[in-house]
Amino acid sequence: MIIAIDGPAASGKGTLARRLAAHYGLNHLDTGLLYRAVGRAMLDKGLDPANAEAATAAAEALDLAGLGSDPRLREEAAGEAASVVAAIPSVRAALLEQQRRFAATAPGAVLDGRDIGTVVCPNADVKLFVSASPEERARRRTDELAGKGEPADYGTILADIRQRDERDMKRSVAPLAPASDAFYLDTSMLGIEEVFARARAHVDLACG
Ligand code: C5P
Repeated sequence: MIIAIDGPAASGKGTLARRLAAHYGLNHLDTGLLYRAVGRAMLDKGLDPANAEAATAAAEALDLAGLGSDPRLREEAAGEAASVVAAIPSVRAALLEQQRRFAATAPGAVLDGRDIGTVVCPNADVKLFVSASPEERARRRTDELAGKGEPADYGTILADIRQRDERDMKRSVAPLAPASDAFYLDTSMLGIEEVFARARAHVDLACG
């Protein structure tokens, strides 16, 4: 079974993906981490993330193992650099096979990202598109950072989210968009338990 979850930054798709994977006993891949690792590698080398040749080489050298345990990949700087390298077609091509291989590994997987239902796994058993207003997503990200004792300015975070949405939706290759057969979940007014329950009900109906 493959469950594809797409949506913008801080929409709650990562939390939902982890919960669904645990519930159905599936593997989970946060595909944003791949782009973040490529972006981070560029920053570490002092290179411009828009440098297509170097970013593609970094994507080709990427090893999925261990990505989830690097806290630096969760930082805003890595997210920003990720959305720049993610607009480079040869970077996306280099990461595509790794994602498909992960999805095809038994017993199946939940993948979350921007183009899972449209490009990576167009034949997924279930496709979810998770979204929330930019203001609500900025509020959640601000609370999350403040909870960790990190600097969190709502206005700056909202501006960053808007900029990242714009870049992710307007790029020419694999832009952020719901697949035509995706189940749309607006989480603006919903808590995680309600989102999880609605998603589960949809998966059970679709795969029942
Ligand atoms: O989801 P996350 O915020 O970690 O993703 C970081 C960036 O990586 C996104 O802003 C997007 O540009 C890119 N990305 C992508 N396709 C994916 C996952 C992430 O383009 N499947």
